[in-house]
Amino acid sequence: MNLQQAASISDLREMARQQLPKMVFDYIDGAAGEEITAKRNREAFNDVHLTPNGLVDVSTRSVGSQLFGSKVAFPVVIGPTGLNGAFWPDGDLALARAAALAEIPFVLSTAATANLDTVSQSAGPLRWFQLYMMKDRGLVEAFLQRVFEHGYDVLQLTVDTSVSGRRNRDIRNGFTLPFRWTMKNLMDSAVHPRWSFSMLRSGVPMLRLFEDIAGAPPQGATISDVMQQQLSSSFTWIDLGWLRSRWKGKLMIKGISSPTQACQAIDAGADGLVVSNHGGRQLDGTRSTIEWLPEIVAAVDGRTTVLVDSGFRSGIDIGKAIALGADGVQLGRATLYGLAAAGEKGVLHALDILKSELDRTMALCGARSIIELRGRLEKLNSPSTTRSAGD
Ligand SMILES: Cc1cc2nc3c(=O)[nH]c(=O)nc-3n(C[C@H](O)[C@H](O)[C@H](O)COP(=O)(O)O)c2cc1C
Repeated sequence: MNLQQAASISDLREMARQQLPKMVFDYIDGAAGEEITAKRNREAFNDVHLTPNGLVDVSTRSVGSQLFGSKVAFPVVIGPTGLNGAFWPDGDLALARAAALAEIPFVLSTAATANLDTVSQSAGPLRWFQLYMMKDRGLVEAFLQRVFEHGYDVLQLTVDTSVSGRRNRDIRNGFTLPFRWTMKNLMDSAVHPRWSFSMLRSGVPMLRLFEDIAGAPPQGATISDVMQQQLSSSFTWIDLGWLRSRWKGKLMIKGISSPTQACQAIDAGADGLVVSNHGGRQLDGTRSTIEWLPEIVAAVDGRTTVLVDSGFRSGIDIGKAIALGADGVQLGRATLYGLAAAGEKGVLHALDILKSELDRTMALCGARSIIELRGRLEKLNSPSTTRSAGD
């Protein structure tokens, strides 16, 4: 299959599977434990039913929307993912450029494989930054100062990673950073020559952004060791005040998975939330985010921007989240499959598929705008699910 034949995100996933060594594909595709949450994230979409609505003039319509007062071509964000340079050379730049071309925000991860200056040259005006809280607050402060000066005006603090998830596929494959070249991994790479040659040319992916800010690792340690040692497991809701007072831009909390947490985030001064279970990569055994979404939307009651991620693979999925009251959807694997399949072109293709599917979903529901799509559901999971059309 070539890129133009790829009709869906599943097709791009299949292309990515063929391009990448198994250990790298499994790093993207895999999740924590038995991957029950990751499966639930997908299955739960089947329980949300949109309402078709004909005999409505939808000849003029737009999927355009706004996030934090900025226009977006459709209510979608390329979310933060680490190690992008392992999926395609300069993967962070390819994702940032594609987001800029598609006129949607790009979230740069703390675990990016390119440094801040380089990514910033490729990123468009809608540039956001994702933070993993570190033990050294001085380091975080310096980090945030530079990020803000580079034009990133929305910060997403990821809060579902007090420890990292146990990803069984990575353990079985011996996937670590820096790569450990076991005989099995070497053979795996040898049968994926395109990936191997491109990695030889671009160099082994490293946590360059973190190195850029934290400095070179001490003798005998890798930058991954330093980052692992720095990650904080003790940051609490009380400490959030410290971050709020130091970040001048919009603050979002990523990894919200209950109405209680959503309200705590608002009380702590957050401007937005990402309802997320990290794509099932952290705690296995949780509900899917699309199941939590209606209750969270009801609890928030319009007080803050609500984005959702985890399991989104089509414009129909995105339409369901909008219908349930989300302001937008953040993407993880969907655009990574595109990246691994064909670099920047593959990411753009993934975004085109999602946008066109969302546009069609909206039209078939008889909605001419994202606002009108709200509430276009046949069966609601709970009585308090949505803001109604026109709210
Ligand atoms: C390969 C990979 C790397 C990720 N790295 C990060 C990261 O550095 N920071 C973060 O907050 N989330 C990270 N995530 C989680 C995503 O931001 C997002 O929450 C998740 O992928 C959504 O699920 P989905 O992939 O099913 O859409 C990563 C996800 C993947 C698949």
